[in-house]
Amino acid sequence: MARYVLAIDQGTTSTRAMVFDQSGGVVSTGQLEHRQSFPRAGWVEHDAAEIWRNTREVIGQALSRADITRHDIACVGITNQRETTVVWDRATGEPVHPAIVWQDTRTQEIVDRLAADGGTDRFRDVTGLPLATYFAGTKLLWLLENVDGLRRRAEAGEVLFGTVDTWLLWNLTGGPDGGVHATDVTNASRTLFMDLRTCQWDQAILDELGVPARMLPRICSSSEEYGRIESSSLLRETPVTGILGDQHAATFGQVAFEAGESKNTYGTGNFLIVNTGEELVRSEHGLLSTVAFQLGTEPVRYALEGSIAVTGSLVQWVRDNLGLIREAPEIEELALSVEDNGGAYFVPAFSGLFAPYWRPDARGALVGLTRYVTKGHLARAVLESVAFQTRDVLAAADADADEAAAELKVDGGMVANDTLMQFQADVLGIPVVRPRVVETTALGAAYAAGLAVGFWSGLDELRDQWSEDRRWEPRMERAEAERLHRNWQKAVRRTFDWVD
Ligand code: G3P
Repeated sequence: MARYVLAIDQGTTSTRAMVFDQSGGVVSTGQLEHRQSFPRAGWVEHDAAEIWRNTREVIGQALSRADITRHDIACVGITNQRETTVVWDRATGEPVHPAIVWQDTRTQEIVDRLAADGGTDRFRDVTGLPLATYFAGTKLLWLLENVDGLRRRAEAGEVLFGTVDTWLLWNLTGGPDGGVHATDVTNASRTLFMDLRTCQWDQAILDELGVPARMLPRICSSSEEYGRIESSSLLRETPVTGILGDQHAATFGQVAFEAGESKNTYGTGNFLIVNTGEELVRSEHGLLSTVAFQLGTEPVRYALEGSIAVTGSLVQWVRDNLGLIREAPEIEELALSVEDNGGAYFVPAFSGLFAPYWRPDARGALVGLTRYVTKGHLARAVLESVAFQTRDVLAAADADADEAAAELKVDGGMVANDTLMQFQADVLGIPVVRPRVVETTALGAAYAAGLAVGFWSGLDELRDQWSEDRRWEPRMERAEAERLHRNWQKAVRRTFDWVD
């Protein structure tokens, strides 16, 4: 009897394979980082072939560290950085171009061109999304317009499009000899091509944009058997039975199954997701409407999302581009070398600003500087920017719900940072709660996969596995928290209208 579920978590900076047991505990992990390419200002690329090689390798690491084989694995779940766009040759499996990453802003001209006829909300009613460089659709258009002969090859059925889940599924299940070309509803909801109500590609949008439907994957639920792993793999014949975009997976791993439940993940960016149940809610305050998850043939569950482009990646930037720290966790020590931010505010609008502002014309700014400011203050301003941005999206979610959240469930790498979590509780004025398993993204993919094969009996069993590890109560005077936040919002306004 297979005792475990393996989840592949293909994130923006690294790829992990994690083995989970029946209690939702982590048995072993394999992890590799991949190269980040910045060929021009605003461009961010990944090598999809490297990501696939790393995926194979981390699966091997996770199996050998637990000293297990494929016979111990009931099924595999996939979760992934969303929106990142890959197009590959159906016959050879070779990507036709580096993957264009979700943070990449090269498609601004395409966005402007499309918005000139109907504004940035032109597809919002159907897709739940504003027109923005963030989503996969404009990245695919850029490839069709800029890679020689690609449109012709797409029309001839020679090339395939996928987000990273689709790329991995196709390779895991057979590669050039005919892998499965499919995606799940959560990933499809990030393309600008899917009708949120029917959860099918919207032919009218495809026609308007000139996207050949035959290059698109089949849209499936988030929990069903998509295919079995091909014969040269360590996991051969194991079924792949769960796919969720990483933020949806984290929501699932936090067992936020019901309307009104939410989570906030601190990754390279921050993503607040509020489950809205079977109701497709339209935000009036700058949030996206998206799919939370769909289990097999059950009704689709929807969500509102506050996407923040730059949080953890700002710490990496401070490490790699400024050299102020050697390792990311050192940011906390540096921040603790001072009492407060010394008046400095850092708005990391590196990819413009996402929710709730949606200002592609914004660029990063460091404001409030005086001779007094040290690198300690900058470190503090970096951490505070993460918390302030979260407050802005949570305020939008509260306004849409007409009700203030009572607490915030958090996960992701930065929740190990006590200073940040305390400041987060302080600026929000509500408790911040961390679960025992903070690897909720991989856990959520494992849950979706395991449910499809009966490894777990249902949502109640999963809900019982969630437990609280730590809680931060707000300690700061409300007046002081409000003053800091007012300054932050002044700083945000300074970043607008930077790009013509
Ligand atoms: O939408 C982008 C998101 O999926 C990336 O997640 O965890 O790499 O920050 P992460």
